[in-house]
Amino acid sequence: MAVEPQAVLLHTLRDLGYTDVKNGCEIGECGACAVLLDGEAVNSCMVLAMQADGADIVTNSGLGTMDKPHVIQESFADAGAIQCGFCTPGMVISTKALLDRNPDPSEAEIRDALSGNLCRCTGYGQIVDAVKLAASRLAGASSQREDARSNSKRGRELDSSNRVLESGDQTKVGGES
Ligand code: FES
Ligand code: FES
Repeated sequence: MAVEPQAVLLHTLRDLGYTDVKNGCEIGECGACAVLLDGEAVNSCMVLAMQADGADIVTNSGLGTMDKPHVIQESFADAGAIQCGFCTPGMVISTKALLDRNPDPSEAEIRDALSGNLCRCTGYGQIVDAVKLAASRLAGASSQREDARSNSKRGRELDSSNRVLESGDQTKVGGES
């Protein structure tokens, strides 16, 4: 799309219908407008739209929907980390960026990663709990995937050794006849 040179990414995304990108302060203080720009969480109110030319942009609704929520979004709901919900899209984006680079963060690392996201409702305790919950669920899912991969590899190995045995038997049977 064509944009004015001074167009701000926050307004451009909202004009395109991505209203999950929240307009809180417009001065880079609240984190409500956070999006992933090539995998990095940035405040979209501090980025010109043309600076995002050719970049991958992911907003909260790009991670998951009401019907198919992302693990992080589900964890925020399950941990009671959402009250008015205004800060939540930015919190979810900052959490995604954190867990992508550090899947097992300490509480201090979680608080540090979310220090640019302000919440006026929750007092942050449940938000930290939500990030821990998401980290443990994602770790569980990835170890289940690992198990499934190694089970299927073991299955393939057993299958192929059975085939070797069977073909050995046939040779033997063939030799006897
Ligand atoms: S609206 Fe961008 S940081 Fe507050
Ligand atoms: S839930 Fe209301 S601002 Fe965070």
